[in-house]
Amino acid sequence: MLRSKPALMGIILLSVFAAGCGVRFDMQDQPRYKTYKKSDFFKDGRASRELPEGTVARGLLKDNKAFYTGKIDNPDPNVQVATTTNAAGNTIVTSFPNSIDEFPVPVTKELVDRGQERFNIYCIVCHGPVGAGDGMIVRRGFGAPPTYHDDRLRNAPVGHFFEVISNGWGKMNGYAAQIPAADRWAIVAYIRALQVSQDPAEIMNLSPAAPAASPAAQPTGGARQ
Ligand code: HEC
Repeated sequence: MLRSKPALMGIILLSVFAAGCGVRFDMQDQPRYKTYKKSDFFKDGRASRELPEGTVARGLLKDNKAFYTGKIDNPDPNVQVATTTNAAGNTIVTSFPNSIDEFPVPVTKELVDRGQERFNIYCIVCHGPVGAGDGMIVRRGFGAPPTYHDDRLRNAPVGHFFEVISNGWGKMNGYAAQIPAADRWAIVAYIRALQVSQDPAEIMNLSPAAPAASPAAQPTGGARQ
């Protein structure tokens, strides 16, 4: 027999404490459903629930249409873009009613440099170092892409290039899965640089004023040649 109330209380407390230590509730023991398991609680019998309508994962809203698609905001659904197939079997389009004509990102030297790096990883094998359509794979027999240096592609809007890279074009695969949108724009910027580099008229526009120009036009700040 216990002789005092305090001793009794002590034993009770001890056993409560011991019980607390002995029984563990781990997270793996909680009442929860495994993926795709049956549920008696929901009327449709499925434990996996549909996402509420309109749910967008954080960071994946993609509300900037121009940036993610290269398309204008309200394309006219009645405008049909006619494509033809040329002698080389390539798909040719000459009007681009739904493509944006201006870059949706600032075009900086960093962007063009990044584009050059990405182009040399993903595109050079077919399109060649300056985009003339003579890459190594083509030299080994793959169908030749068109050159970037004709009037049609020189005048094509930037959105068209973005679309070709994203979704593919004729015989060419899309690269949306490998190349994030920002890098696709970087590649487009580099293609524009390549186009300028191979266009004599553009080069003339870029060349600095002749040395005979007025002294005010000379670079300031010392020994720049
Ligand atoms: C495996 C070879 C291959 C690779 C790699 C490749 N392309 Fe192409 N590309 C082609 C071919 C072939 C065509 C012509 C397709 C057709 O007209 O059927 C083409 C067409 C194009 C066109 C012209 C579209 C038009 O309106 O005529 C552009 C622009 C282009 N590619 C950009 C790129 C870029 C940028 C990359 C890298 C991200 C790339 N390509 C990677 C083979 C390739």
